[in-house]
Amino acid sequence: MSSGNGSEPRPTDEELSAMSREELLRLGGKLDGVEIVNYPDPWPVKGTKAEKRAERAVALWFLIAALAGAAFFAALIWWPWQFEPPGNQDGYFWYSLYTPVLGVTLGVSVLALAIGVLLYSKRFIPAELAVQQRTDNMGEGSAEVDRKTFVAHLADAGERSTIGRRSLIKRSAGLGAGVLGLGTVALPLAGFIENPWKDANGKDSLAHTGWQPAFPGEVVYLRRHTGDFGEVSLVRPEDLDAGAMETVYPFRESERDDHDALVHALKRSDNPVMLIRLRPDDAAKVVKRKGQEDFNYGDYYAYTKICSHVGCPTSLYEQQTNRILCPCHQSQFDALQYAKPVFGPATRALAQLPITVHSDGYLIARHDFIEPIGPGFWERKS
Ligand code: FES
Repeated sequence: MSSGNGSEPRPTDEELSAMSREELLRLGGKLDGVEIVNYPDPWPVKGTKAEKRAERAVALWFLIAALAGAAFFAALIWWPWQFEPPGNQDGYFWYSLYTPVLGVTLGVSVLALAIGVLLYSKRFIPAELAVQQRTDNMGEGSAEVDRKTFVAHLADAGERSTIGRRSLIKRSAGLGAGVLGLGTVALPLAGFIENPWKDANGKDSLAHTGWQPAFPGEVVYLRRHTGDFGEVSLVRPEDLDAGAMETVYPFRESERDDHDALVHALKRSDNPVMLIRLRPDDAAKVVKRKGQEDFNYGDYYAYTKICSHVGCPTSLYEQQTNRILCPCHQSQFDALQYAKPVFGPATRALAQLPITVHSDGYLIARHDFIEPIGPGFWERKS
């Protein structure tokens, strides 16, 4: 607020302190060259049925915001969010609704809160019409008189909005905003609610992938995806030409007749592995990583497909240079040097899966990766 054109006599500090808010309001207007054209009270007669109806309408929107916020919070925690294959009709139906339910409940909550606020300002805040001449106050800061009159304006606006005596609206707005706030705090934390150390050696823990045997001695085969989710096509060493690459997934005999498990193995995000058969000349140049000297089977090397930068699929293998390329940010990994990064933003090698050939002639994983795949997380050691 400016101190106006200076033609108005300035009150002393004592006079200012003795003024009522109403007087300060008028004084502020005069000093600023403000002319209030219209300042109607939206409810000149207090306590009418119409006023109460308007109050209840506003409270209703805040209540809807609170209910939708609570529904969002409940869905975030309790809705079945884990993947269910389409074969499991009931489970898949509820799983597929998870994201839409979160979107709808959060959207309704925000929308209802916004409508409540808009409705309140439309029905209860006086629509003041004032005209003011602007001035830059000659570059000087606000004087005491400006500060006092400005505060008086704010206080007057607060009082005229009648929010102070509308406890129904205050409570419902607090409830709506509070529940919505709770949901927005819970959203980023929800991923951490599951205990990541529970069953730390199981294939479903954060520390392992689907390549982890479910029990000691379980054989986990390398399986290709033929396009038919239920088909089991295992990989023999002679299936790949020198210089070829194939994407493989884990398969265990216990899942042969379990359609859901077969689908899940192909869809689980940390399962895909690039099986690369190096050309003999290239294989002779391989530099193995310490501790992983026996992870390959002859010319066959298996690396996770999940990029160590931010987790895109590194699906491109360039036979001439033996480079594995990630299309997301152009990281390149050297397949002859335990897939260590040689270009781009990735800083860690792709995790290598130890493989061998089973007595039945099919390629199998000797055990799970010895380090977490993909971007680093808190337990990564390399
Ligand atoms: S995710 Fe692979 S380079 Fe960024």
